[in-house]
Amino acid sequence: MSQAATHQKISVKPQSAALGAVIDGVDLARDLSDSILEELKSAFGRYSVIFFRNQDLTPQQHIDLAERWGHININRFFKPLEGYPKIAQVIKEVDQKENIGGAWHTDHSYDEIPAMGSMIYARQVPEVGGDTLFSSMYLAYEALSDGMKEMLEDLKAWHSSRHAFGYGVSDSEHYQDGRLANPDLATQDALHPVVITHPITGRKALYVNTGFTVRFDGWTVEESKPLLDFLYAHGARQEFTCRFQWEPGSIAFWDNRATWHYALNDYHGEQRIMHRITLEGVPLN
Ligand code: SIN
Repeated sequence: MSQAATHQKISVKPQSAALGAVIDGVDLARDLSDSILEELKSAFGRYSVIFFRNQDLTPQQHIDLAERWGHININRFFKPLEGYPKIAQVIKEVDQKENIGGAWHTDHSYDEIPAMGSMIYARQVPEVGGDTLFSSMYLAYEALSDGMKEMLEDLKAWHSSRHAFGYGVSDSEHYQDGRLANPDLATQDALHPVVITHPITGRKALYVNTGFTVRFDGWTVEESKPLLDFLYAHGARQEFTCRFQWEPGSIAFWDNRATWHYALNDYHGEQRIMHRITLEGVPLN
């Protein structure tokens, strides 16, 4: 993973030894040829998150780009960009203290068919700070002992949107200031294997996350907590991660089945505006 991969039309530079790569030599506002798209897909499969810099996209071009990869999954909770319901806004204003995404998670794992990927386009970013961390759930799985792998192999876990977006949190700053809405729609619960076989790469990945996993199937919340806490601490080990520093015009496109991400909240008093499009996935097994 530490060597830059050879591609014909794009340049691919790994972001860390664990995951992530910066792609150069592509203007995403232009119609992508099928051959460039194939190279991007191959980099996406290999590195799990791909980054682009200095892109200049209108909202419609962002949507067109995402639709080259698949169907867009419209988020129920995030404030959409006016006139573009397919684009969810991830915003923090100068007077706001809470950010969105400030804990390790994978988007939409509470859906029965969880999102394949998320494509975020940076419109406005702080001078310093507001970076996003990513962690490889392939590496997290592979680093477990054989005994732990064996125990997790047949376990399933429940994921839910209720505690994250439902009425229990509807008095939070996000809801009060309108960045999140529709707590009544936070009714999703989904059961997924704890170890999935990735639908593109065939590699095994750990599939629980701090944001949305609530318990193992057949176990109580209390019984599940110690093992989940261990897996959350394990999955966040620094050697599984990379960190991306945003600039206006940067794009990160990550695979939700193979990664966690964490938006750092270290830039109070500055504005950060990101446009996120989430893409539909396939059932996991
Ligand atoms: C998210 O959790 O989807 C937001 C990530 C970010 O703002 O960097």
